[in-house]
Amino acid sequence: MTENGAHSTDNEYRQKELEAGLQPFKLVKYFSFSSLAAILVFTLFLSWVISNNARKVMLKQSEEYSLVLAENLNQQVFRRFVLPAVVRYGNIKLSNPAQFQNLDRIVRNVIQGMKIESVTIYDSSINIISYSTRSEMVGKKDVGGIEYELSLEGIANSQLRYSGSVLSLLPGTRPLSCELRTFIPFRQVREAGGGGGEAIMGVIEIQKDLYNEYLNILRLQGSIIAVSAAVMMVLFLVLRTIVSRAGKIMENKALERLRLEEKLNQAERLAHLGTMVATVSHEIKSPLGIVRSTAEILEKRIKKVAPGSEHLARIVIDETTRLNDIVIEFLDFARPRETQLQPGSVNELIEKVLIFAAPKLREQGITLEKNLATYLPATPLDQDQFYRALLNIVVNGLQAMEQGGVLKVSTTVVNNQFVRISIQDSGIGMDEEKIAKIFTPFFTDKNKGTGLGLAITKNIIDSHNGKIHVESAPNAGTTFSITLTAFT
Ligand SMILES: Nc1ncnc2c1ncn2[C@@H]1O[C@H](COP(=O)(O)OP(=O)(O)O)[C@@H](O)[C@H]1O
Ligand SMILES: [Mg+2]
Repeated sequence: MTENGAHSTDNEYRQKELEAGLQPFKLVKYFSFSSLAAILVFTLFLSWVISNNARKVMLKQSEEYSLVLAENLNQQVFRRFVLPAVVRYGNIKLSNPAQFQNLDRIVRNVIQGMKIESVTIYDSSINIISYSTRSEMVGKKDVGGIEYELSLEGIANSQLRYSGSVLSLLPGTRPLSCELRTFIPFRQVREAGGGGGEAIMGVIEIQKDLYNEYLNILRLQGSIIAVSAAVMMVLFLVLRTIVSRAGKIMENKALERLRLEEKLNQAERLAHLGTMVATVSHEIKSPLGIVRSTAEILEKRIKKVAPGSEHLARIVIDETTRLNDIVIEFLDFARPRETQLQPGSVNELIEKVLIFAAPKLREQGITLEKNLATYLPATPLDQDQFYRALLNIVVNGLQAMEQGGVLKVSTTVVNNQFVRISIQDSGIGMDEEKIAKIFTPFFTDKNKGTGLGLAITKNIIDSHNGKIHVESAPNAGTTFSITLTAFT
C-alpha cells in the first residue's frame, strides 16, 4: 500500500517536473500562435484600408470626370438647344416631340462613347423629370432627393451607390453593382462667359456605371487577402513544424534530466543503505564470533558431560556460520574493498573455486565438465575479489541444480585479446523478467538468500573493466559469461 502510494506521488512529481521544464516553451508556442492571429487580423484590416482608399480615389476621379462632362452638357444643351428653341418656339416645352427629340439628339451626341448610363434633367420649379435618356423616367415627380435640393442651391454633388463586397467574388453570391450619380445645377450660359450666379434652370443628373472599376478594387482586395492568407499559411506550417520539433527535443531533454536525477537519487539512497548495512553488519560480526567460539567450547564439554546431546551445540555453530556468511556478503556489498589489479591467471582462480565447491558437487550428484584453455594470457586480477565473483556464480548454479545436473566451466581466448570465462549449469533457469533483475541488490527468490551475490559480482567485474552476460531460459539452465581484456 505504502509502496503504491509512494509510486503514484513519484509519478505525479515526475509529471509536474516535466511540465515545469516545458513551461517557458509552451509560452513561446502560445505567443507565436497569438502573434500569427494578430498578423492575420492586421492583414484583413490592411486589405480593408487599401480597398477603401482605392474606392475613394475611384470616386474622386469619376466625380471629377462626371462634373466636367456635366458642365459640358450644360453648355451644349443651353447653346444648342435652349437658345435655338426659345428663338424658334418662343419657349421651351419638352412635351413637344420635336423639341424633345432635338434635346435628346444633342445629349446623346455629347455623351456618346463615354460609358454614361443615363442623363436626366429635372425642372427647377417643381421636382419633376423633364428629360431623361431613359424615356420611362420622363414625367416622374419627386424622384430627386437631397442631391436635387442641393443642386438647386447651386451646389454640385455626387452620390456613390454600391452593393456587394469582396465576398461577391465567390460564385453563387449576390451580384455586384456600383454607380455614381452626379448632380449639378443647370444654369444659363452667358456669352460673355464664366462665373457663377447665373439663373438656375434645373438640375442635370449624370449616372455613370462603375461596375468594372468596383470589380477591380474588390479583386485587388481579394488578392491581398489571398496572398496574405497563403503567406500566413506557409508561416504557420513552418512555425508548427519548428514548434513540434523543438517540443520533442525539449521533452526528451527534460525526460533525460529526470532520468539522470532519478539515477542519482537511487545511487544516493543505495549509498545510505550501504553505510547502514555496513554499520549493522560490523556490529553483529564480533558478538557472532563470540557466540560461535563459545558454542564450539560448549560442544566439546557437552560431549563429555552429556554424550548424544552435542548436536544441539552443532546447530548453534552451523547457524552462526551461516549468519557470518551473510554478514560477510553484506559487508562486501556495502563496503567494497579497493580493487588491486595485478596480472594473474583466471584458470588458477577457477581451479580454487572448484576445489572449494567439490564437496557440494558430490553431495548434490552434479557432474563437472571442466574445459580450461591450456594457454591463457594474463589479465588484470584482484585475486580475492575475483574469486568471490566466480564463487557467487558457481554457488548460484549449484543452488539451481538441487536435483543434480551438469556444471560446465570453460575458459577461451577470443581474438587473441580477450579471455572469456563461461559457467553453465543445467538447472532451473530464468525467464526474461527475472534476468533483468538479478544484478539488482537485494533481488532474490530464495528463502535464505540475500540477493547480494550477483550485485557484488557485477561490481567486481565492473572494477576489472570486464563484461558479464547471462543467457537463460526456464528449465533450460543458465550460462554466465565473463569477458576480460588480456594484457598483450
Ligand atoms: N544459475 C542460476 N539459475 C537460476 N537462477 C539464478 C541463477 N543465478 C542467479 N539466479 C537468480 O538470481 C537471483 C539473485 O542471485 P544472487 O544475487 O546471487 O542472490 P541470492 O543467491 O542470494 O538469491 C537468485 O535469487 C535467482 O533467482
Ligand atoms: Mg547467490
